[in-house]
Amino acid sequence: MCGIVGYIGNEKASPILIKGLLKLEYRGYDSAGIATLEGENISCFKNKGRVKELQNMKEVSTLNGTIGIAHTRWATHGKPSSTNAHPHLDNSNSFAVVHNGIIENYSELRTFLGNAGYTFLSETDTEVIPNLIHYYYTKEDAEEKNKLANAVRKAVSDLKGSYAISVISKLEPNKMIVARKDSPLVIGIKENEKYIASDIPAILEYTNNIYILNDGDIAEITRNSITFYDKDFNVIDKKCEVITWDAKAADKNGYEDYMLKEIFEQPVAIRETIGTRLNIGDKCNFDDINISKEYLSEISRIYIVACGTAMHAGLAVKPIMERLISIPVEVDIASEFRYRDPLIDERTLIICISQSGETADTIAALKSAKEQGAKTIAISNVIGSSITREADYTIYTHAGPEIAVASTKAYTSQITILSLLAIYFAEVLDVDEKNMINNLKDEIRELPSKVSIVLENTEPIKEFAKRIYKEKDVFFIGRGSDYAASMEASLKLKEISYIHSDAYQSGELKHGPIALIEEDVTVIGIITDRRLLEKSVSNLAEVITRGAKTLLITNQNINEAEFPNIIRIPQVHPLLSPVLSIIPLQLLAYYVSKEKGLDVDKPRNLAKSVTVE
Ligand code: AGP
Repeated sequence: MCGIVGYIGNEKASPILIKGLLKLEYRGYDSAGIATLEGENISCFKNKGRVKELQNMKEVSTLNGTIGIAHTRWATHGKPSSTNAHPHLDNSNSFAVVHNGIIENYSELRTFLGNAGYTFLSETDTEVIPNLIHYYYTKEDAEEKNKLANAVRKAVSDLKGSYAISVISKLEPNKMIVARKDSPLVIGIKENEKYIASDIPAILEYTNNIYILNDGDIAEITRNSITFYDKDFNVIDKKCEVITWDAKAADKNGYEDYMLKEIFEQPVAIRETIGTRLNIGDKCNFDDINISKEYLSEISRIYIVACGTAMHAGLAVKPIMERLISIPVEVDIASEFRYRDPLIDERTLIICISQSGETADTIAALKSAKEQGAKTIAISNVIGSSITREADYTIYTHAGPEIAVASTKAYTSQITILSLLAIYFAEVLDVDEKNMINNLKDEIRELPSKVSIVLENTEPIKEFAKRIYKEKDVFFIGRGSDYAASMEASLKLKEISYIHSDAYQSGELKHGPIALIEEDVTVIGIITDRRLLEKSVSNLAEVITRGAKTLLITNQNINEAEFPNIIRIPQVHPLLSPVLSIIPLQLLAYYVSKEKGLDVDKPRNLAKSVTVE
């Protein structure tokens, strides 16, 4: 997954482009490049490494052009190198292209273009695009009207796979052409200036008037106009969204890292996600999907399908949904889902969770389920993201931009919105669970304030992080919803501290994993369910007798004498407890990573949204 920015206006393009790339580095950061129109020619500079290094190239400071494109890369085809970095130009240096996505048929296209006399400098799939554009632009039968847009249209119609591209050309130096399929692209507009980017935060400081491209859309952009075409090259109108985030929301607001900012934003994110869905006295409000009782009554199975943290949110909500509506709920990892031939028919409901809305595995799973007759609901945090264009219904979390690769506020917002959805389903079905529904509603209303309480108690977590940051292994254990939270806590620690970690159901330890427990091993327990208290406490005692040092996250009456490191959290319905119990463990992962001096927001090998399968 990569970051794309473009600018056409009256200012020098390069500073705007570099600043945009810096905001998109979380999308990929192994190499970067920039191209601007300088008089009659395209100047293009690229560099292996971070955007900062590109910015410091002396050649970049010589760029004065007012139209340009730039790119920060997360390598898929071709190792990170300056040659493989984007932008890519055609053989005649007439067209420059930046691309996010994967061209699945690039080798056939290379062969076709090779036979037509084109050569390639890079190992990338992307390099076929500028040469295809050149091929169509210079063909005898090329239409003179909208020549550049037409050539791009023909080129992208040959592409199989996913793309968001931006194209500039020295042959038509006052235009930029963009096109997208399965990878996100937005256009920001101001009078006589236009901005394009892979996502909104990169250009929000300039304008909050944003067009979001749909799959198949092409746009021809000049300084004072945009013409949109659909995949059949018919001119179409598009609605301009007015984004309410302010530019600061996409910055760090004074926190050292995006991840810490986003951890502390969770009370607001949850409150925003609840929004007006829980007005006192009313039924849970889901007018945005409006599912009928007739339809829901026929549903025999619900699949929750997602990846990583989003899948862990599904695990946390499965018991709530089953308890409220008595419909079996299965939680599936998206990359496994469609290959295991799941039982799907029109009585199946698919709920796909994706913070970015761009995760290829999750989108592919949703598409496959739709083809088999299932209705689909997407839960996403990004307006207009690809998954929202595929699903039958879309429900947004309102966590605000989540920039850190490690997902935090999205997780707690996803559990919140899915719990509300479960309540909505129960009310649509008119199930006889009034007390439980009203109790859950009250508990959900109180989540933001309870999360704030947990966030006030960071010192003991910092201290424990200092004790374990050199560990090689850390184990998390819990039962029921505490196990769901343990899975997420383990992922957090792994992905930003690079410490190996596993989560186990507490009751499973004695069936094997307890063999791993030895003197001074770290075991972190979560205990929030009164019904499971005794058993959970004895599981933790078992590892202590074998020499483990433990940390316990709990809201139960447990004695410090037996369990020395306890982080207490507020009372909460056990089925909602992951929203609170995960907070100290998000912070623990953060502080461990900081102790190790790692780049918390951009951990190695990872990208914020994985748009490849
Ligand atoms: C979470 O911390 C990870 N960054 C990763 O597991 C992420 O949750 C997963 O890739 C799914 O992303 P999505 O929610 O954008 O689909």
